[in-house]
Amino acid sequence: MVAASKLKETSVVSENHPMTVSVYGLGYVGCVSAVCLASMGFRVIGVDVNPDKVASLQAGMAPIVEDRIGELTAEVIEAGSLTVTTDARAALTDSDVSLICVGTPSAASGELSTAYLEQVTTELGAALAEKNGWHTIVYRSTMLPGTCEGLLIPELERISGKKVGVDFGVCVNPEYLREGTSVKDFYDPPKTVVGANDSRSAEAIMGLYESIPGNRYMVPIGIAEMTKYVDNSYHALKVSFANEIGAVCAALGLDSHAVMDIFLSDMKLNLGPTYLRPGFAFGGSCLPKDVRALTHIARRNVVDTPLLGNILPSNQSHLQRALDLIVGEERRKVGMFGLSFKAGTDDLRESPLVELAERLVGKGFDVKIFDANVALSRLMGANRAYINQKLPHLADLLVEDIDQVLEHGEILIVGSRTPQVVEAVGRSRTDQLVIDLVRLPDAEDWRGKENYRGIAW
Ligand SMILES: NC(=O)c1ccc[n+]([C@@H]2O[C@H](COP(=O)([O-])OP(=O)(O)OC[C@H]3O[C@@H](n4cnc5c(N)ncnc54)[C@H](O)[C@@H]3O)[C@@H](O)[C@H]2O)c1
Repeated sequence: MVAASKLKETSVVSENHPMTVSVYGLGYVGCVSAVCLASMGFRVIGVDVNPDKVASLQAGMAPIVEDRIGELTAEVIEAGSLTVTTDARAALTDSDVSLICVGTPSAASGELSTAYLEQVTTELGAALAEKNGWHTIVYRSTMLPGTCEGLLIPELERISGKKVGVDFGVCVNPEYLREGTSVKDFYDPPKTVVGANDSRSAEAIMGLYESIPGNRYMVPIGIAEMTKYVDNSYHALKVSFANEIGAVCAALGLDSHAVMDIFLSDMKLNLGPTYLRPGFAFGGSCLPKDVRALTHIARRNVVDTPLLGNILPSNQSHLQRALDLIVGEERRKVGMFGLSFKAGTDDLRESPLVELAERLVGKGFDVKIFDANVALSRLMGANRAYINQKLPHLADLLVEDIDQVLEHGEILIVGSRTPQVVEAVGRSRTDQLVIDLVRLPDAEDWRGKENYRGIAW
């Protein structure tokens, strides 16, 4: 256990620059943030609209049940490093930084409710109007991308009559703690993310966490807002995946934990970054076939597996996304780089690029395709029979010279990242539309251009 006194020794607050932090909303996130920051040596003012919570904290008792929070709360209240009030305006005036930790529950429709955020923002705007000097407002509540810049900053500016980045700063600093281990998670978070549009605010807030370990990211506000949703959706997905696999295993008389022990030991393909970067649809001779077989055996055993059952429809939706990008254009001549289901193979079975090409041909597009591996295997006769028998309509579209595709396409579909393809796309003209399904290595430069569309970025 890290005692409050020990934490004070590693305080980031220097004698010359004491920082006072006000924390709005003293629920799970706010209470833990306020108490832990006070333990680290900051002067903290906690604010809540609920008088019972305020009274409980003033008496040195945490209003939440969490490991270690009781003793830490008693310590920081006793030491005077945490004070608690219902006076929102005074708390902002007396602090340098305000952390906003109010709830963002689901509305009845499932939509995220920003009611508490808007309410607290109105109060902060009024207090900002009267405050002299710089103040930074930090939203820790979970909110959808666009909420801060589209709703909260305009409201702060309207009510205060001041300008963000000029008169005051705004950051989004999502909280990654888990209930039950929230104090431990606060001191040892999986990462620290600060979204801001001005570096002054971002650096000041990063300074709060100077003594906290883990990777740090200073990013645009929208990226910071989104990280929380990506994390939580993925965590939910993992739980549901494990449970569906468990249900299928149980129906087959298998111990799912024995199966998952092996799954979890695979750090190459299962746990790690593999397959987790947005790109094009999956395909090939294994993934679609095996997902189909697993969902079939689940159905035969009357095991409902909606998650597994929707993997192939999700993949089809992604393919449709690519098609929509192309069909939405007026142009008819398409040059396609790549045809096999992934780089480094000539395997065309269930390749989503084959399906894309077939659908384009079916819609009357004039398509030419280059794939170095397919061209080679055709030359050597390896895949010739398959192409001629299964894809005779595509065989005629395959060309052996990449420049033929480059010259032909009004639309260039990038389905491969080989150096040869990257080099060819780099020679494309500005009147050619580049549709990137693979995230070209220089996609960040391409993204700003008029003649470029990324499938999922
Ligand atoms: N609970 C978690 O484990 C967790 C983890 C990470 C992020 N989050 C996110 O953090 C946010 C807060 O979650 P929580 O679980 O701590 O919420 P909570 O409901 O426990 O606490 C919110 C607190 O805000 C107070 N409040 C409401 N309006 C206020 C105002 N105008 N001024 C001052 N206080 C006000 C409420 O009285 C309440 O005490 C949410 O956006 C949530 O999604 C929660």
